[in-house]
Amino acid sequence: MYEEKISAALASYEKLLREQLERNEKIKETKEFVDYSTLEKIIIGVCGGDGIGPVITSEAAKVLEFLLKKDVEAGKIEFRNIEGLTIENRIAKMQPIPDDVMEELKKCHVILKGPTTTPQAGDGLPNIESANVAMRKALDLFANLRPVRIPEEGIDWTFFRENTEGAYAVGSKGVNVTDELALDFVVTTTEGTERIARLAYNYAKNNKKDRVSIIQKANVIKTTDGKFLNICREISKDYPEITTDEWYIDICTAKLIDKKRRTDFKVFVLPNLYGDIITDEAAEFQGGVGTAGSANIGKRYAMFEAIHGSAPRMVKEGRAQYADPCSMLRAAAMLLSHIGYIEESVNLDKALDICMADESMKITGRDDGCSCTDFGNFVMDTLVKITNSDKEMI
Ligand code: IPM
Ligand code: MG
Repeated sequence: MYEEKISAALASYEKLLREQLERNEKIKETKEFVDYSTLEKIIIGVCGGDGIGPVITSEAAKVLEFLLKKDVEAGKIEFRNIEGLTIENRIAKMQPIPDDVMEELKKCHVILKGPTTTPQAGDGLPNIESANVAMRKALDLFANLRPVRIPEEGIDWTFFRENTEGAYAVGSKGVNVTDELALDFVVTTTEGTERIARLAYNYAKNNKKDRVSIIQKANVIKTTDGKFLNICREISKDYPEITTDEWYIDICTAKLIDKKRRTDFKVFVLPNLYGDIITDEAAEFQGGVGTAGSANIGKRYAMFEAIHGSAPRMVKEGRAQYADPCSMLRAAAMLLSHIGYIEESVNLDKALDICMADESMKITGRDDGCSCTDFGNFVMDTLVKITNSDKEMI
């Protein structure tokens, strides 16, 4: 009685298999990362997004423009404002990223992207894919780097979340086989796992981190998580100086709360969905998701964003102007270091550390705290002071 439905589901499944096999082949084509130092000009695209996105992104863009002013004038850096990555425009075009926006994005080298609203089942919005997820896939941004640092508690974590596979690879292409049976798919490829594992281990090696933890649930999700674990183990053999340990995602989530154990963790490598969930938890220790930036790195492109969403509730309650810009400012610092502006990146992080610790300028998300613009100005003033004192030292 189900024959027709099974045939229809199989047809969808076959299409997914073909797409994923092709994707795995394509990964092999691009071997090397862009070397920004060899480019005549680096183009930085800025997309405000929607919800609180434009408010917090503009503070980060201002800081970047200040820090890169000399090189903009010398023609070595160009900023491009990219409009149209809003939920309204995406719904009007019925595309996660409208074609004209994508065309502009592809002309850039790196992108600073504000949060964008993601429709979910039952909210009345059309079922379009998240713009983040679509951008990560379209630009093949396979590594999502999410640092969490609380020096006074000995926490120095860097998460290497695989960013194009796992439960996300075909997350909006699951199959409702019948009214009563729905199936989603999890994808792990050899190429996709090798490149994230390699990046995590190289990062550990280059930054003198002595431990990499492979996080998965290979005891239950045996095929895809099993493959992820096995490949990471293989790569780990090339780094004998680094201790590798293995944790199931559930106990790892618990151990992040264990004050005695959690300082052992340094670098984590993990599949997409686990990385999504645990990095929100980790950011909470540092002061909340509003304080956490992330880098989405690929071989040709890179995109920098907050780890959180567009906070439609804040907008609805008229509180957008009190949103915390720290996540986007941290993302901007990661962008700077990614394109080789190390000193500027360090100074921005320094300014943020000072401003975030200052009790007189607290961001609360409400009118009892300071506004996003006031905080942005505070960071800018602090940065000017740091930059000037650097100059005096020379
Ligand atoms: C993130 C976000 C996104 C994700 C959402 C907005 C689709 O939660 O960047 O962590 O799940 O990856
Ligand atoms: Mg998330």
